[in-house]
Amino acid sequence: MHRLTILTLFPEMFDAIKHSIIKRGIDNKLFELNVVDIRQFSKDQHKKCDDYPYGGGAGMVMMVQPIVDAFRSLSTKDAKVLYTSPRGKVFNQTMAQQLSKYEDIVILCGHYEGVDQRAIDILGAEEVSIGDYVLTGGELPAMVMIDAIVRNIEGVINSQSLKDESFSNGLLEYPQYTRPEVFEGLEVPKVLLSGHHQNIDKWRQEQAIEITKKYRPDLLEE
Ligand SMILES: C[S@@+](CC[C@H](N)C(=O)[O-])C[C@H]1O[C@@H](n2cnc3c(N)ncnc32)[C@H](O)[C@@H]1O
Repeated sequence: MHRLTILTLFPEMFDAIKHSIIKRGIDNKLFELNVVDIRQFSKDQHKKCDDYPYGGGAGMVMMVQPIVDAFRSLSTKDAKVLYTSPRGKVFNQTMAQQLSKYEDIVILCGHYEGVDQRAIDILGAEEVSIGDYVLTGGELPAMVMIDAIVRNIEGVINSQSLKDESFSNGLLEYPQYTRPEVFEGLEVPKVLLSGHHQNIDKWRQEQAIEITKKYRPDLLEE
């Protein structure tokens, strides 16, 4: 079974993803989400986990000791370790697919001004960003990555869904419709009601190209 472990100061935030398809994946034992509270490992009497940055500057930095002890408490040897960070390589669908092959993934979530560099070095963590903007913490990025990773684990969702969706063939997805056939005068494209699968595939391919041209022409250049 795949195991994803999150090291965080805010474990309650992860209740937010234990719903819908992810909950079903956990219930069906396709993967396990293990949320570890870094604060439990603080040796400080008040469970302090952050301190002022050496050299001065704004904000606080997460201390190395609680992070390293939290990591060492895990029964993991060959885990792929990630650190959520705006400095990192930008996460994408290819990375989600590659990461879904790992049995054991550990994600360290930063907060405040980030973490002591020695924690990143000792954990051997790869820095991964979810986009070129700065968030208050790594918890939302970790949830974004977990969601994208686990849906690529076999059995979590229908494999046909993965095959047809955006980015899977270098294009964005074609428009989707469901009942009713007419809503406020807007009709579902006739071809989708025809039952002619070749024509439907052709229409979807054309639409996918048009949508990709409109929103992400860079994907077509690639
Ligand atoms: C306020 S940010 C720290 C930003 C850091 N001082 C910098 O300038 O790069 C706090 C934490 O949020 C997380 N974070 C913020 N933006 C992120 C992003 N775009 N992708 C991934 N993690 C992010 C990181 O874990 C980071 O340590």
